Amino acid sequence: MIGRSDFKQHRVSLERSSPDQIEIFPLDGESNDDCWRWSQDLIRQKDLSGNAPDLIARKVRSGKWNVCQRARKTTKKAKTIFKGPEYINQTGTNQLTSMGLRGAFDFPKPIGLLSTILELVTVPGDLILDSFAGSGTTGHAVLELNKQDGGNRRFLLVEMEEPIATGVTAARLQRVITGYNKGGAPDKPVRGLGGGFRFCRLGTALFDEFGDICTDVTCADLAAHIFFAETGMPIPARATGATPLLGTHRDRAVYLLFTPEQEERPGNTPGTVLTPDALATLPAPPEGFTGTKVIYAGGTAIPADRLRSQNIIFKQIPYQIEGA
Ligand SMILES: C[S@@+](CC[C@H](N)C(=O)[O-])C[C@H]1O[C@@H](n2cnc3c(N)ncnc32)[C@H](O)[C@@H]1O
Repeated sequence: MIGRSDFKQHRVSLERSSPDQIEIFPLDGESNDDCWRWSQDLIRQKDLSGNAPDLIARKVRSGKWNVCQRARKTTKKAKTIFKGPEYINQTGTNQLTSMGLRGAFDFPKPIGLLSTILELVTVPGDLILDSFAGSGTTGHAVLELNKQDGGNRRFLLVEMEEPIATGVTAARLQRVITGYNKGGAPDKPVRGLGGGFRFCRLGTALFDEFGDICTDVTCADLAAHIFFAETGMPIPARATGATPLLGTHRDRAVYLLFTPEQEERPGNTPGTVLTPDALATLPAPPEGFTGTKVIYAGGTAIPADRLRSQNIIFKQIPYQIEGA
């Protein structure tokens, strides 16, 4: 109910207490029946009196009534700190051009924007993930910030477009790490920031949603994953299935007994179970290696104490593969 008067603004009251009041119904923008956002019960809980009531009714030029909620200012608008030429996209474009990548990427972010964000939210030693790497500004900013404060932040950049990943993201990082000539001019060398990165390509999925090895996985791909998961290093040579010894790193020699169905052929079925025979015929690690043999296989028929006494760690696939 609202008080009927000539004032443009009225208090809203719920009780039809005087002939001075009219009843108004909610209509949508096309004058169809609508509903109020607040129920009568809710309105009863609101402050409808005083100098600043929660609800205000206003008569508009068309003669209709507008009932609206008073916006109480309880918040403060934050002022941007990203103000200045170092934060505008044109700067990002100029920076890419100066690295010899004119027009290679639309709307690259400026380094200053990412540096400020990284300064605010990271500490030396953090790992920074950018899943939409584009021109690689995030990686560049990480390298610059490390140079400035002696930090050892690392970055992980993901870019799904192959031409961008190789021709822009990696190309840019390569240049800023090793140095380049500004705008291609031989008399304007820019010193490299140092650091480095490894370029990896995502293969097809190795494991399904249940953690089982996908049927189309090759021995080479599974071996590469296992070696990396076990040692943190890339496999030294692509596994062909000819030998179960994938390689050694520090105090670990990594073995895999696995032959995907589609790769099975006469003479190439080493089996997937670590039997006493399989163990006896495992190729020896390089001479001088005294570390642990880590053997991945579908199962083992050798008692745990015997494995321990031979300094062997058995890991069952797929369950004990990290990342499965
Ligand atoms: C807006 S750009 C990023 C710009 C970047 N911040 C820079 O400074 O250049 C987004 C990028 O993410 C890539 N992208 C989009 N979807 C992706 C996805 N699902 N995985 C990886 N990269 C993706 C696009 O190819 C594009 O290069």
